Amino acid sequence: MPLTPVLSRFWDEPQSWTLETYLRHDGYEGLRKALASTPDQVIQTVKDAGLRGRGGAGFPTGMKWGFIPQGDGKPHYLVVNADESEPGTCKDIPLMMATPHALVEGVIIAAYAIRSSKAFIYVRGEVIPVLRRLQAAVAEAYAAGYLGTNILDSGFDLELVVHAGAGAYICGEETALLDSLEGRRGQPRLRPPFPAVAGLYACPTVVNNVESIASVPPILLNGIDWFRSMGSEKSPGFTLYSLSGHVTKPGQYEAPLGITLRELLEYAGGIRAGHRLKFWTPGGSSTPIFTDEHLDVALDYEGVGAAGSMLGTKALQIFDETTCVVRAVLRWTEFYEHESCGKCTPCREGTYWLTQILQRLEAGKGTEGDVEKLLDISDSILGKSFCALGDGAASPILSSIKYFRDEYLAHFTSGGCPFDPHAATLFS
Ligand code: NAI
Ligand code: SF4
Repeated sequence: MPLTPVLSRFWDEPQSWTLETYLRHDGYEGLRKALASTPDQVIQTVKDAGLRGRGGAGFPTGMKWGFIPQGDGKPHYLVVNADESEPGTCKDIPLMMATPHALVEGVIIAAYAIRSSKAFIYVRGEVIPVLRRLQAAVAEAYAAGYLGTNILDSGFDLELVVHAGAGAYICGEETALLDSLEGRRGQPRLRPPFPAVAGLYACPTVVNNVESIASVPPILLNGIDWFRSMGSEKSPGFTLYSLSGHVTKPGQYEAPLGITLRELLEYAGGIRAGHRLKFWTPGGSSTPIFTDEHLDVALDYEGVGAAGSMLGTKALQIFDETTCVVRAVLRWTEFYEHESCGKCTPCREGTYWLTQILQRLEAGKGTEGDVEKLLDISDSILGKSFCALGDGAASPILSSIKYFRDEYLAHFTSGGCPFDPHAATLFS
């Protein structure tokens, strides 16, 4: 399957982030088409194209926009979730650095479609260069008349604010993000009501991922059939896959949904020389891991789901045979323990105990029943936590024990990590 660079097509150009460069690549032409249509027509186009949310869940974008009630007399808000934090996920930040105007143009089209006059981009506070790049692009867009009042003489007004979060993974969960944007401590809210009904300041709100929004202008510009000519019936279009770890050429590869890891590895130069694939994540660390048995799984929502995992953020973290699976899972679990917001017991307590057990296995102080304990605690978290973070913490543990139980047991029977004789000093 060939690569399909659309969003990334001029990332390598000098000054790719300026308005001038963007305009040379059909920039803001999708917006002109959108403003020549009614908001409902724009929503229908995105629905018919079949664009699915690129933040991880794959929810149909046009359908989400269609949930916003009309004529309700309340303000409507568009919030872009630019709080990319999932371990291994590195697609939105490069996109915003290379072509911030693609996001700004998408924001204007989406806001027009849902009849919103105020939009926010909520970006991770730690990534100052992204913040500055976005602020500069927004300023350019205001100066050129793409933002503000009476945009391109259409009568449509839009104010766009770039907001910096304070660096908590949980603020990528859409309702925690809204709490944070309102100035409160970011913790997930009960859903329903979903943000489309009661979101920012209890008003109808669309929360969309950066890549989802940036994918909208090319759809408006090139049409439904063009978008549907890539990908599969239920997962149409192109998307950004992020390859990291033990590959020869890590990076972002833009390809049709449904490509396989085997094909992507050909573009990425394969597993590093002299080594072989051991395990990998199809969609970031929150998704069940895959092994070399899954090289030919179609990387779309249906294909990955049928094989027992989730496409998630399409962050393919690749590990070769030199990697200890217990150590990798421990690193992720430490992350989830640290980032757990503490609101619900299964996740708050469970991630703590999972970390303790994994650390003692690595240190050679495990006990015979530790693997069963890991399974038991993970089972108490999965599907019983308040938000997706809990499931994300349990998934790599359950799946790694499914495929590598012997390696877990070897940490007990051989008195420590078979891959690292110094592990005991690191985790004791
Ligand atoms: P979800 O499936 O609960 O919701 C997805 C979207 O659809 C949300 O915007 C939600 O408001 C909307 N939605 C769902 N049902 C709806 C309904 N009946 N009415 C109106 N709107 C509805 O998934 P969630 O919990 O929002 O996200 C989980 C995903 O996030 C995971 O798959 C994971 O891959 C991803 N993730 C991404 C990260 C990143 O850095 N990009 C970090 C961590 C997780
Ligand atoms: Fe907070 Fe974890 Fe519960 Fe989510 S699952 S609400 S992050 S404690």
